Amino acid sequence: MSAQGVRAEAAAHMAAIGASAHYDHRLAPYDVVVSREHVAMLARQEIIPSDAAAGLLAGLAELEEQLRSAKPVLDPDAEDVHTAIEQYLEERIGADAGWLGTARARNDLAVTALRLWLRDQTAELGATLVALAQALAAQAEEHAGTVMPGFSHLQVAQPVTFGHICLAYAEAFLRDAKRLGFVRALQDECPMGAGALAGTGFPIDRDSVARGLGFRLPSANSVESVGDRGFALDFLSAGASIALNLSRFGAEIVFWSSQPVGLISLPDELVSSSAALPHKRNPDAAELVRGKTGRVLGNLYALQTVVKGLPLSYFRDLQEDKEPLFDTADTLRLSLNAAVSLATLMRPNTATMRDRTDVAFITSSDFAEWLTREQRIPFREAHHLVAKLVRAAGELGCSLGELPVDVRRGVDERLALTQWPDITVEASAAARTSQGGTAPERVREAAALLRTRLAEAQDAFRPDEPDHETPADGNGDQR
Ligand code: ARG
Repeated sequence: MSAQGVRAEAAAHMAAIGASAHYDHRLAPYDVVVSREHVAMLARQEIIPSDAAAGLLAGLAELEEQLRSAKPVLDPDAEDVHTAIEQYLEERIGADAGWLGTARARNDLAVTALRLWLRDQTAELGATLVALAQALAAQAEEHAGTVMPGFSHLQVAQPVTFGHICLAYAEAFLRDAKRLGFVRALQDECPMGAGALAGTGFPIDRDSVARGLGFRLPSANSVESVGDRGFALDFLSAGASIALNLSRFGAEIVFWSSQPVGLISLPDELVSSSAALPHKRNPDAAELVRGKTGRVLGNLYALQTVVKGLPLSYFRDLQEDKEPLFDTADTLRLSLNAAVSLATLMRPNTATMRDRTDVAFITSSDFAEWLTREQRIPFREAHHLVAKLVRAAGELGCSLGELPVDVRRGVDERLALTQWPDITVEASAAARTSQGGTAPERVREAAALLRTRLAEAQDAFRPDEPDHETPADGNGDQR
């Protein structure tokens, strides 16, 4: 190849590795919002001529219109979406478009647009997490008294109620919603005005831009704010937490719905049949909710690795922040929506649940507690005595409640009682009345309280700035 050919190839390779417009175009509506705010401020501060500002605002309004109607008006071969927008404006309004670049750089622009996009994602994902917890609260209200086996080590341990288990997951999802709220609060600073890294000599008004975009404050340090991706990492790590909790929920559903377990049924819409085995109802939705966790965890690791070792300010490496963020948001949206459907439509098989609690000596701990409460035997000792009773009952093939008095006397004189309880699984569950316990009345209370806490969490995601318009959705790849 000629030296010229080698260099032409190099230019093509550079363009290819540098291109981001094919994925960052989803930031276009956010660039428009930031640019509009910036232009208005520049005009107010008399930094740019007012007729140039009017032309720019008209061009931006037109672009916004086009983006809303999903017309592909931006050059997909531009280096990035921000360059493509400047090109678009230049084609529309000519040389006046050049005023837009005053007192800003792509460094502060790109990261501000990304923060705005992320703010909308946290609001949407947070609201879906709340919806998921609400679906679980509804199950809890309906099944506060539905007894099922409670597992530890996947061994049947103690009777619990299905409602209690649903609330257990709801707690985790509520906490994740709050986690997203923290992320949102922490990213509440506007980088615009940082310029390339050092700020600008133009008499800009950073406060008004920040407020106009719905941020609490402008960022405090220009150098820090063009290179910081902590806000993105916070989102990815909150996302990882969500994915981990979803994965556990998915795994639980897969287990519960397996035929030999049979604790729940899933509707046709959420299972797939096997091509080879017609009797099967594979819980694919739950499996994929679990399986998609891998990429969400990977996205966190990917961006951590990108920023590790980067000194202050901007490096092109930072362009690699977007795809992990986009993928995590998209994946979580899919998984959360599927989880909402699973939580809403899963049906406990109440008879099977009751049957599966019929495991020898599931209420042994209730007997120990009874001995402590009614016979004032110290709990550790009561526990040892019940262990002996379990062995004796196992040999006789009877339940603890059916143990004859002479056998009990053989274990310990204090057990030769005429009043000897037969503790059912329902009685066992109903007795666990401590706060946060599985007793149906506690579950009903907890579900009611959860509803209030969810309403509060939902409030935190309401947009606090009414003058900040939510840009048209720019999702989906153009190319
Ligand atoms: N597309 C770039 C990014 O997202 C925009 C910033 C480019 N700045 C620069 N100095 N090359 O990171």
